[in-house]
Amino acid sequence: MRTIVIATQNPGKVAELRALLAGLEIEVLGLADLSSRFDEPAEHGRTFEQNAAIKALAYAAMTGLACLADDSGLEVDALAGRPGVDSAYYAYPGEAEARQHPRNVRDPKNIERVLGELEGVPLEKRSARFVCCMALAQHDAVLATSRGCFEGRIGIPPRVPAGTHGFGYDPIFLVAPDFQYTSAELAPEEKNAISHRAHAARAIVDKVRALI
Ligand code: IMP
Repeated sequence: MRTIVIATQNPGKVAELRALLAGLEIEVLGLADLSSRFDEPAEHGRTFEQNAAIKALAYAAMTGLACLADDSGLEVDALAGRPGVDSAYYAYPGEAEARQHPRNVRDPKNIERVLGELEGVPLEKRSARFVCCMALAQHDAVLATSRGCFEGRIGIPPRVPAGTHGFGYDPIFLVAPDFQYTSAELAPEEKNAISHRAHAARAIVDKVRALI
């Protein structure tokens, strides 16, 4: 394995994984570094693990390279784990409808739905976590998977939404163990060091290291 392509258009994610994989003599590319354009595979999995594997296998087949993909979202215990794999479009009937709106419209709508469903639930019962699963695939096989969690609670208005950093549900997510700040109130470097993505990335990098 000489090259790994990260299944993302986000240069920040590529840079983060490139830094974590430094020293392994593996070239780390993003989709934007490849000359062809690839269709995004539909994510029909019921779990983050399934969606990460679907993406990794699809891009490995399309690019002919080893591919690392991730899937992430928010699980709220009082909502039986929802929004889960529907996190990106929770306030919409489906992914296609949600994609017609920019992120700065979708994110507040999704937040509004979660806060509405938690109305009347006391703070100690509002436990939640961000989850990130990663999968590495080559040819038609998944070679490694990992899961990372970032624990917290969904705050109660008017304390939340608060904070200007991050994206998605960050403005309503009070970070454990103190629940003093939302993840949107943390500096980006602070959040990136302890996030679900960081945990999942470190775990899969360890597995990649063992594979080569
Ligand atoms: P994706 O896996 O990057 O597509 O993320 C799916 C959705 O989960 C996002 O659209 C967000 O709504 C939510 N999400 C994932 N990670 C985070 C995070 O770090 N902060 C806030 N929301 C997140």
